[in-house]
Amino acid sequence: MQIIRTVAAMQAQRRGRAHTACVPTMGNLHAGHLDLVRRAHEKADAVVVTLFVNRLQFLPGEDFESYPRTFEADCAALERLGVHTLFAPAESELYPEPQTFRLVPPAPLADDLEGIFRPGFFIGVATVVSKLFNIVAPDVALFGKKDYQQLMVIREMVRQMALPIEIVAAETVRAEDGLALSSRNGYLSAAERAQAPLLRQTLATAGAAARAELRRQRPELARIEVQACQSLRDAGWVPDYVAVRKQSDLQSPSAQSDALVILGAARLGSTRLIDNLELSI
Ligand code: PAF
Repeated sequence: MQIIRTVAAMQAQRRGRAHTACVPTMGNLHAGHLDLVRRAHEKADAVVVTLFVNRLQFLPGEDFESYPRTFEADCAALERLGVHTLFAPAESELYPEPQTFRLVPPAPLADDLEGIFRPGFFIGVATVVSKLFNIVAPDVALFGKKDYQQLMVIREMVRQMALPIEIVAAETVRAEDGLALSSRNGYLSAAERAQAPLLRQTLATAGAAARAELRRQRPELARIEVQACQSLRDAGWVPDYVAVRKQSDLQSPSAQSDALVILGAARLGSTRLIDNLELSI
């Protein structure tokens, strides 16, 4: 595996290169990332993984400084999977001057849900992903559905900016007890880890209730969302939101035929977890 540290070297390497798939990451790779890499191999001849902890998508007071950095272990895992190139620029390389030019995703998509609790997060994500896309110039890029709203923002960015990149979404990879894999799971104490699958269970229960509610003439999804938050609160969590939305645009459902997703975010101790479940009708 070739490790590339500079923008110039990455841009030089891409010239004349085969069909390329890119997996953008912030490192601390887990089975979810590795699943994306395996899928990337199926989609293209060359696989480029990017590893960059992007300061722009962290709010003041969030975990930018303490975000787990495990470069050696990440490299070993990627080598084992036959990744061709790891693009891992230093911050001074990707942002040699303050990144004052930023991409602002559309408010209806990005200023809701995560955008309410992490204002500016999607500006940071869209800005770095567009910059990485410009440098790597992949034909395909892969993202996990665990970050559902992020995936939608990136899809919309690619669509509206006419980027010639196919965005592939992969199912969330979960631990045996159902917890969605995330680098932030490592922050959980043993007791919190044992309780962490409750987020997914709560979404599953609320999702089943939402499906039944949607069969009624005047469905009241808000009541189900409030109940789900309350059951998390009763178990000692601090929920940010539980919301039933349309898969197509993350707006509130309007018709029974809408394909739905239920999304949730909640704090367990000092760790903020997010998850979602697509609801089959
Ligand atoms: O999902 C992530 O790890 C990050 O948000 C991403 C897409 C690599 C951008 O920094």
